[in-house]
Parts: sequence; structure tokens; C-alpha cells
Amino acid sequence: MLTVQELNQEFGNSEIRFYTDSHGMACAELNNPMAKAEIALNGAHVMSFIPKGQEPVLWMSKKSYFESGKPIRGGIPICWPWFGGHPCNSDMPSHGFARISVWEVVASGNCEDGATFLELALTPGLIADEFKTNNFLVKLRVEVSDKLSTALIIDNCSDKDLSYSAALHSYFNISDIANIKISGLDGKAFIDTLDDTNYVQHGDITFAAETDLVYLDTEDTCIIDDPGFKRKIKVSKTGSCSAVVWNPWDAKAQRMPDFGDTEYHKMVCVETTNAENDARTLAPNECHTLQVIIESETGV
Ligand code: BG6
Repeated sequence: MLTVQELNQEFGNSEIRFYTDSHGMACAELNNPMAKAEIALNGAHVMSFIPKGQEPVLWMSKKSYFESGKPIRGGIPICWPWFGGHPCNSDMPSHGFARISVWEVVASGNCEDGATFLELALTPGLIADEFKTNNFLVKLRVEVSDKLSTALIIDNCSDKDLSYSAALHSYFNISDIANIKISGLDGKAFIDTLDDTNYVQHGDITFAAETDLVYLDTEDTCIIDDPGFKRKIKVSKTGSCSAVVWNPWDAKAQRMPDFGDTEYHKMVCVETTNAENDARTLAPNECHTLQVIIESETGV
């Protein structure tokens, strides 16, 4: 692993700076005239995205752990190679090992459209022995401009099929869960994981209780309409035919040690996934990209 000083020499520039945060984690700050973002090497975790002059777009729990081997509660955790519980081993951590492994930086720079980018990689050599699996190369490419693009690029480098589920588990910062609505999923089938029953969405999604929904067969863009912050957050995607909408509400929030009891008022997850019937199998040498693009329009 490179030191922060070496990272700055190799990958830093006037818009990209590496530093050790107050918890001792190596992080990158991407800062350009359009926006600022922070990414932890721990989990290749996008922790913040703040377009200039705006409220933070991503939510972060005040009670999050920032420790090696523990997931960060907020921002964009990367769930891979399984989403939720492990398909056959309940001793395995929730949402896979990508978010609790330390990734390495492999590229950085500036795009033609003015965005600043950073690429991180995860390979079998970087994961704990208990998680050893097929040979793979997973990259996360983050591009920061007036929008945030986060692309998870999965390359099956082995001679066997690679099966996985995945999520870019985005936590959004909102004014009040009781006053927002989410459009884009009207008419879509979903599984309500709280009663394990299939339903069809009618109209926009609103919130008045714990919500944990997996939408099926949807490539659609979702809009989080937040009148309290006078903004609309647009969540568009590629390589995904499913989506998860989650808010733990009060009782579940109280059961989670890294989530403040009342913080559920201020967040909602709209997750870009390859989950349920959208889980993927890559043949040898096959590659797949799961991408979310987040844009925030204010004054609306
Ligand atoms: C969501 C799931 O994606 O993640 C929820 O749908 C889960 O069921 C939530 O509670 C948080 O998971 P974790 O492992 O980060 O506590």
C-alpha cells in the first residue's frame, strides 16, 4: 500500500489531494470549480458529494464507524459480490467484502468535460483469506463535476463463471423523510422485504414507516423531490435492472449501533443494484459495469 505522501506524488494534482483523516483512514478529496467529493480507500467509499453552493447531496451518519474492517454508514457503500446476506453462509458479512476491504488507487486525472476522476481497484490479493473466490478485477471509477458518476466495473479474470449481486448503496441527504417523494417507479413490480410479498407501485413513493423495497425490471431514472431543501436529486443509471429503496425508520435505527436513533428523518437510500432476478453471472473474461449518475437541481 502506498503512503499518503506517495499517493499525492503519483496520483495527486491541483484538484486531487490525498490525506489521512481524523480516524487514521487514507482518503482522497476531489475538488474542482463545480463540486467537491471525498472518497475513502477503505471500501472505495464515496463519503461526500457537495456541488458548489449546495447542501451535501449524500448523507453520512454521525454515528458511523470509520474503522478498517467495518462498513461506513452513509455515502455510497459498495455491496459486492453479494447484496444483503450471503446466499449460503450466514457467517459472512452483510453486503459482501468490497465495502470492508482497502482498495488501491490505480488512476486519476481530468476528463475532457472538466470532471475530475479517480479510479480504485480491488483484486483477490487485497481481500481477507476467508473471502477468497474466483480471480477478479473490480474497479471503481468516480467522476466529479456538477454531477457525480460512480461506476463499478467487474471483470471476471478467471476460467470459471463469476456470479454475484451488487449495489451502489447510495444514502441521500434530505430535509425530512415525511415530506419527500420519489418518482420514476410508478407501475413497477417490487418485493416488500418486510413481508416478503410482491406488489406493484402506484404513483410516487412516500414514507410513513420502515421501508425496504426491491424494485424489479427497472432501468428507470428516479427523482427524489425534496421541497424542504427546494431541490430534486436525479438518480440515473446504466447496467442495472433493479433498485432498492430503504429507510429503517425508528425501531430499526435504534437496533443499529452505527445509526443515530432519530437520523432516519434525514436520509433515504435509493440504491442502484444488480439484485434478485438482476443478479449477474459473468463468463470467463466477461466484464460488466454498474453505474449511477447523481445530479442535483436546486431552487425547484
Ligand atoms: C439495504 C437493505 O440495502 O441495506 C436493508 O435493503 C438493510 O435490508 C440495509 O438493512 C443496511 O444494511 P447494512 O448491512 O449496511 O446494515
